Amino acid sequence: MPLHIDTLSRKNKMSIADLPNLLIGADTVVPTLYGPKRYVNFDNAASTPTFQPIADSLVSFLRWYSNVHRGTGFKSQLSSWAFERSRDIVAEFIGADLEQQVVIFTKNSTEAINKLAYRLPFENSDIILTTLMEHHSNELPWRRAGKVEHVGLNDDGTISKDDFLAKLKAFGSRVKLVAITGASNVTGYINDLDFFALESHRAGVKILVDAAQLVPHRSIDVKPHDPQYCIDYLVFSGHKMYAPFGVGVLVGDKETFEQGDPETVGGGMVDMVTLEEAYWTDLPEKEEAGTPDTVGVVALAKAIHMFESLGWEAIIGHEAGLTAYALKKLKQIPAVTLYGDTDPANAAQRLGVISFNIRDLPHALVAAILSYEGAIGVRAGCFCAQPYVKSILQVSDEEAKALEKQILSRDRSNAPGAVRISFGLYNTKDEIDRLIEMLTKIAFGDYNRDYVLNKEKGEYTPKEFEVDFGEYFRL
Ligand SMILES: Cc1ncc(COP(=O)(O)O)c(C=O)c1O
Repeated sequence: MPLHIDTLSRKNKMSIADLPNLLIGADTVVPTLYGPKRYVNFDNAASTPTFQPIADSLVSFLRWYSNVHRGTGFKSQLSSWAFERSRDIVAEFIGADLEQQVVIFTKNSTEAINKLAYRLPFENSDIILTTLMEHHSNELPWRRAGKVEHVGLNDDGTISKDDFLAKLKAFGSRVKLVAITGASNVTGYINDLDFFALESHRAGVKILVDAAQLVPHRSIDVKPHDPQYCIDYLVFSGHKMYAPFGVGVLVGDKETFEQGDPETVGGGMVDMVTLEEAYWTDLPEKEEAGTPDTVGVVALAKAIHMFESLGWEAIIGHEAGLTAYALKKLKQIPAVTLYGDTDPANAAQRLGVISFNIRDLPHALVAAILSYEGAIGVRAGCFCAQPYVKSILQVSDEEAKALEKQILSRDRSNAPGAVRISFGLYNTKDEIDRLIEMLTKIAFGDYNRDYVLNKEKGEYTPKEFEVDFGEYFRL
C-alpha cells in the first residue's frame, strides 16, 4: 500500500486567496531600525519563495529519493520515474512535443542559454539578432558565439518592430538566430512573440525566447507543429516560479542537440568509454552530464501543478489587480518617476514589475530605507540589464563613459539605476499600502539620515546597526 502520497495535483482546486497563508515564511518578522516588523517581499522577479503544498510534496518525495537512472533498487527506480514524469509535465506545460523536441534540465536560464549558444554552429561573421531589452543572460553568451546586433527601442521602451524588420532585412542571410526576451525584467513589457516568431521564420531564422520572466505569469505554447509561429528554443527557471531548488529548462528541437558534442561531459551521458573514445548516449541524458537535481525537477513539476490548479485567468487577474493598484498609488506620490507604461488600465497587458526613482535620491538609498526602516525587500540598480536601463533612464553616451570610468575605478556611488518592485501570487494590496506609506515618507524626507555609503559596492547601510544573521538561521 503506497504511503504518503501528497495531494498537490493539477486537479486539486487551489485559490489565489489561500496563497498568502500557504506561503512559507509569510509571517516572518525581520529586524529594522524601529524594531521587528513583518517582512514584505516585492522582489519576485528575482526569485520567488515557495508554498507549503510544494514543500510538503518534496518532503514526501524525499523518503523515496535516490540517484536516478543508474540504480537498481526500488527507490532509484521510483526516483527515475518521478524525474522523467516531471519532464513530461514540463513538456505538457509549454506544449512541447517530446517526439521531435527535447526538454533539457539545467541549473537556471543562464546555463540554458549558454548551453544553446555552445551548441549552435555559428561562424564568426554569423549574426545573432537580439534586442536592447535583454537581461545580460540573453546577451553575453551570444557575444562568445558570433556577432551580436541589437534591435532598438521605441521612445516608450518597447522593442521597435520597425527596427527589427529593418535589421532582419539589412543583415539578410547572415542572421542565424533571433534571441529575444518574452517579457522585460525592468519595465514588465510583454513582447509580441507571435510577431517576432512569424517574422523570424519568414526570414528563415530560428527564434529563442528567454521566458525567465514570462513563464511564471502567462501561458506559453512553443507550438512545435506550427512552422510560422513556433518558438524554436525556450528557456526558463524554476526559482522564479515558486520552485527555488535549482532547476532551469532548455527546450529545443532534438536535431540541434543530436549532432556534435555536448558542452559538459562526464558521467551519465555516455554509452561507452574506452581510453581512446567516448560514445555519447541519446538525448536528453546526452545534455545532462552528472547527477541531476532530481528534487528540484520534482519541485518544478509540483509548482506547475499549482499553476494549473490556480488557472491563468485567476493568476493574470490577481497580478493585474496588484499592478493597477500600485501604479495608481505610486502616481499619487509627486516625487516618483515611473518607467515604462504607467497606465493602470493596461495592467493586464504587462507583468507586475515596476521600476521607479524618487526625485534624485540614489536608488540604492531608497532600497536601503525600505529594507532597514520598512522591512520591505525590493531590488535596486540595473537588474542585470544595463544597456536597457541606461536607455530608459536616458543616460547619454558622454555620461555613460564618465560613469564607466568611475565604476571601473571601483566607485559605484553614481551608478545609474532604479528601484524595482515585482509582485508574486501571494502579495496583497495591504502590502502595497505599506510600500506606499514608506515611499511617501521617503519623498517627504521623513527617514533616518544616518546611512553610510559603501562606494565600492554602491550600497547604503545605517550607522550602528549590526545584525547577527546566525541568530535567525544557524549554520
Ligand atoms: C529576463 C531574464 N532572463 C534571464 C534571467 C536569468 O535567470 P537565472 O538567474 O535563473 O539564470 C533573468 C533573471 O532575473 C531574467 O529576468
